[in-house]
Amino acid sequence: MLYSEVVMDHFRNPRNLGKMEDADGIGVVGNAKCGDIMKMYIKVEDGIITDVKFNTFGCGSAIASSSMATEMIKGKSIDEALDLSNKAVVEALEGLPTHKIHCSVLAEEAVKAAVKDYYDKNGIAYNEADFAPGHHDHDHN
Ligand code: FES
Repeated sequence: MLYSEVVMDHFRNPRNLGKMEDADGIGVVGNAKCGDIMKMYIKVEDGIITDVKFNTFGCGSAIASSSMATEMIKGKSIDEALDLSNKAVVEALEGLPTHKIHCSVLAEEAVKAAVKDYYDKNGIAYNEADFAPGHHDHDHN
């Protein structure tokens, strides 16, 4: 089978799908090659992400990846959200086909873009490097 049960489940029943009117941070990212676009909204209270919503105009793997990513950062601190790697998303999804890995990268980038927007809106200083794709302070491999 090409896709894991977890991927199929998140594709069919995406978690936290939709719009957030009073978001504290919004991230929009796209992949120029496939043309897919992902939008991520976060609500932040005392440094904790209390709510997440997403909209993805893209493939099934992108929908499953963003759905999984929202579940993984909900209730976590901003720092933990910044640490979310596409690899962790793929692991949680129990794998993605090689040519679909970039869909999970889009999810990581969308989370980072939303956090960055939150920082910008609140005048919080940050280290640019923390937002570089593939940057993870606590990568244990
Ligand atoms: Fe581009 Fe999935 S094919 S995000």
